Amino acid sequence: MKAIFNKKITFVIIGLLGMVLAVTVSGCKVNEAISSKTGAQLWGENCRRCHNAPDPNTFSPEQWKTVGMHMQTRALITNVERDKIVAFLQQ
Ligand code: HEC
Repeated sequence: MKAIFNKKITFVIIGLLGMVLAVTVSGCKVNEAISSKTGAQLWGENCRRCHNAPDPNTFSPEQWKTVGMHMQTRALITNVERDKIVAFLQQ
């Protein structure tokens, strides 16, 4: 009886560890995918969902900083993504 119980517990623990590992690994993959994207890519993907993606010449570098902060709350993007997009638009 006891031996069977121990086997079951071991099985459950291995299963849980596997799940934790899978979540951790896939979490890292998502972060990698985001960090490998350029500002231009992120701009094209995120900034034309609601309106035309704005041309980099439309605003001054200082204005793009403000636009970036304002549109970050609309586009629900991370600080890293926003900084990359703003850097691209400021060029
Ligand atoms: C969820 C929708 C949404 C997303 C995504 C979005 N915007 Fe906007 N954007 C708006 C709305 C709505 C306005 C109107 C002004 C306001 O919200 O104050 C606007 C206005 C603007 C304006 C001002 C336009 C003008 O001519 O005055 C700029 C510039 C801009 N967005 C840039 C961006 C950039 C850059 C991104 C990508 C990071 C972005 N937007 C992503 C909704 C969005």
